[in-house]
Amino acid sequence: MASSLPSLPPVPGTDPSSSVFDAFRISIAKRLADALEPLTLEQAYAGVDYGKKGEDFTVALPRFRLPGKVDELAKKVIDQFQADDFVASVKHDKAFLHFQLNTTSLIRETLNQIHRLGSAYGCNSSGKGKKVLIEYSSPNIAKSFHVGHLRSTIIGAFLANVYKTCGWEVISANYLGDWGTQFGLIAVGYDKYGSQDELQKDAIKHLFDIYVKINKDADTDPDVKLEAAKFFRRMEDGEEDALKNWREWRELSVKKYEAEYDRLNVRFDLYTGESKVGQESIDGAIKRLDEMGLIEDHEGAKLVNLEKYKLGKAVVRKKDGTSIYLTRDIGGAVERYEKYKFDKMIYVISSQQDLHVAQFFKVLELMGFPWAKDLVHVNYGLVQGMSTRKGTVVFLNQIIKEATTVMHEQMQKNEEKYQAVEDPEMTSEELGITGIKIQDMTAKRINNYTFNWDRMLSFEGDTGPYLQYAHVRLASIGRKNPHLLPLPPRSEINIDTLTTSAHAREIAFLLGTYPDVVKTALKTHEPSGVVTFAFRLSHAISSAWETVIVKGEEDIEKAKARMWLYESARDVLAASMRLLSIRPLERM
Ligand code: ARG
Repeated sequence: MASSLPSLPPVPGTDPSSSVFDAFRISIAKRLADALEPLTLEQAYAGVDYGKKGEDFTVALPRFRLPGKVDELAKKVIDQFQADDFVASVKHDKAFLHFQLNTTSLIRETLNQIHRLGSAYGCNSSGKGKKVLIEYSSPNIAKSFHVGHLRSTIIGAFLANVYKTCGWEVISANYLGDWGTQFGLIAVGYDKYGSQDELQKDAIKHLFDIYVKINKDADTDPDVKLEAAKFFRRMEDGEEDALKNWREWRELSVKKYEAEYDRLNVRFDLYTGESKVGQESIDGAIKRLDEMGLIEDHEGAKLVNLEKYKLGKAVVRKKDGTSIYLTRDIGGAVERYEKYKFDKMIYVISSQQDLHVAQFFKVLELMGFPWAKDLVHVNYGLVQGMSTRKGTVVFLNQIIKEATTVMHEQMQKNEEKYQAVEDPEMTSEELGITGIKIQDMTAKRINNYTFNWDRMLSFEGDTGPYLQYAHVRLASIGRKNPHLLPLPPRSEINIDTLTTSAHAREIAFLLGTYPDVVKTALKTHEPSGVVTFAFRLSHAISSAWETVIVKGEEDIEKAKARMWLYESARDVLAASMRLLSIRPLERM
């Protein structure tokens, strides 16, 4: 903090050096604690909320459960109130007290902090020394990559960014559906329809095609399924002959996926999968459950009775002895804990699998693992109606391609602008991907939504392209005003001219909230709060354009202060976009 501000007592869990709003809140809390004994500073701090409708911060007095009437409490605070460099005024309104920050301090301290911290603005160290394993995307090899997998990918990448921003060590894992009876089917199908050439060209597509064909055969020829089961049995027994092809299929599919994730700006530290869960872990889990009296036999199959917990009966081993999805998740979790000793493990899986996840979490808890309480299921709703104009979508690259094509057509509608774009291919792909991501993260995770190419790729409304446009416009200010750059040391910039603009104040206030936006995202695991922030900031900037001008402003002092404001806005908007895994564009 600049030395001009009064000093403040510390409050646990706050850090004014990374979030200047913590300082403003402490200053308000101190006024409350001083006036309202026995209220402690910490209790008071917890009651300082963001205000609504133009109020900076609001305190709901009844929440403190203090003796005396609300009006009397309010009067005590107001009687003692003295304006200082933190807080300019207080207003009493029914059960609430509204505090208005000192505008000069608000703007100066916020812009200073953004400048001083650079790309670290918004980060905090609450997760220091802690490790989280986040599993997301997790498509099935040889089956289609559906929108459910896309949502898991987008939300998971966001969470990985949020945890990193909060100081956690993050291990991101992709748990491929690379095991199970369908690989017996594919093996049989590969003998009939496989081509090494096609496989090398596009493993994902070729294996899917084979899977579709052999499934059709299986409808009319019962032998196909028998043969497939036999083959999978051999795979589970670890027969090298049976595993050789499968290994190559997996490897080539992963390679292809990696390239596509790269286009989405998504990365994994770890490509694991159902196949990687060791037989020992699975057997060990079943044995332990058996010893604990949790296993029931049912016609040769083994199941855990979870009816007491309203979770039904969960089969953990089939009649023929082969393992299943649930058991692999149980064994897999145990292995991950042994290997990574995580403090938290997050599974980003569709709400369609709520029961499955609740079952294996419960089983792990019943098995007595203390870390079972550190497992978190981040779920999400369904997406309806995603198809390309050529038909149903089954592959990730079709999704990216369609987004790019639709976006490209949108751009061509404005001939003049289109001519100015340097790399229309790259730009339309990036805009298309941004459109998909924003549409996906705009509402609360659990909501279902309908996929709509036109809506998500429009430049109007709260869409991905609009957000990119807002960033590009900010990025262009520097290019258009080279005479102002580089800006002088920030202490030499006179911000007095900004304090009279309500637009500038609003922008600065929003920028100051960003560290809190990040913290809320960590708590709720909701990308929608960050999306809302990015649009609010974009709207505030767009309303400022006409009056808070830089180009054409003859007063150079004024122009420099505004330039500083817009550059700060650009940096924070870009940070929020990156948090959402979006690559901010410089031009479009
Ligand atoms: N591959 C699965 C599917 O497509 C999703 C895996 C989710 N993760 C897990 N640990 N079960 O349905």
